Order: sequence, then structure tokens, then C-alpha cells
Amino acid sequence: MIQQRSGLHFLLLIALLAGSGVLLAHAQVPFPGQCPEVKVMEDFDVEAYLGIWYEYSKYPFSFETGKKCIYANYSIIDSETLSVVNGGINRLTGNPSSISGTAKVLGPARLAVAFYPGQQTTKANYLVLGTDYESFSVVYSCTNVASLTNIKFAWILTREREPTAATIAAAKQILADNKISQSPLIETQQSNCPKLE
Ligand SMILES: *[C@@H]1O[C@H](CO)[C@@H](O)[C@H](O)[C@H]1NC(C)=O
Repeated sequence: MIQQRSGLHFLLLIALLAGSGVLLAHAQVPFPGQCPEVKVMEDFDVEAYLGIWYEYSKYPFSFETGKKCIYANYSIIDSETLSVVNGGINRLTGNPSSISGTAKVLGPARLAVAFYPGQQTTKANYLVLGTDYESFSVVYSCTNVASLTNIKFAWILTREREPTAATIAAAKQILADNKISQSPLIETQQSNCPKLE
């Protein structure tokens, strides 16, 4: 009996390790060195940016692993705060879920998005590198984790679930202008998604 149980625990441990290995491998993209300088939108218009954006592609991010049909909904709370709702559908179960947070507007095109109580909002973790407000947005975040490593995130958001090739080319040009690698970008499934109201 005891042996059976420890056998089971061993199997569970293996499963957990395998699971976390998968998560780690998908968690984030580390780069050598400090975060590089990037150029954010100078004349960023928050109001024009509001509303629904669909996630076209992003750097791997464990938090959203296994989701499809991912979208964000930005709306005004007050002059320096936005409401952020990120939603998506579990690829295995088909269940929709969403998480609500806020974004402090720290400066033009520099937002601090927070989803958890107590999460700091003094450092911008959502930089808008470029958007035309009507078809695409390129969002970037970089954090120094030690003196010799940084973790980067990049997203291409689009106003349509299935944007044109020209829209994606325009977004990728902004990444190229900022020397941000496109190779970690993973496309988000946006086909066969329910229509948002
Ligand atoms: C987006 O947010 C606005 C403001 O809260 C809300 O009225 C609207 O219904 C939301 N849209 C979706 C699709 O959730």
C-alpha cells in the first residue's frame, strides 16, 4: 500500500516536472544584456486607442498558454487610468475566460498594466511602439532581470481578427525599425471564434 502510494507520488512528480518544463519553455524569452532603447509613439492618443484589439501574435507568455481567440478591451476609468479586460478561449475545453486589470498612463504610449492587487504601477510595462489606431498596434515590454539578462515581450494587436497582409507588414516594420526580433512571435488562433458583442 505504502509502496503503491509513493509510486503514485513519483508519477505525479514526473508529471509536474514535465508540466513545468513545458511551461518554462513557453514562459518567456530571455535575452543577453540590458533592455535596449526603443522608440515609443510620441503623439499617442489614448482615446483613439480604446476598444477591442485582437491578439494577432506575441512572444510566448505562460499566462496565456493554451488560449485562442485572445482579445483585449480598453476603456477609460479616469484621466490617467484605463480598464483592461483580456479575454480568450481555452483551446482544450472551449471555455471562455477573462481577467480584468487597470493600466496607469505614465506618459505618452507608456502604460503600467496590472492585474493583481498590489502589483506595482510605477514602471511602464506596456509600451506602444506604433499604432495607426484603426488596424494594428505594436506593444513591447522589457525588464532587466539581472545585470546581464533581460526578458522581452512583444505583441501585435489588430482591430480585425483576421487582418490583411498589409496590416501585418506595417506592424512588423515597426518591430524591425526597433531591432526587435520577430522570430519568437507565435500567432494566436483567431479563426472559429465567437463574435464579441
Ligand atoms: C468593452 O468595454 C466596454 C466598457 O466597459 C463595454 O461597454 C463593452 O461591452 C466591452 N466589450 C466587450 C466585447 O467586452
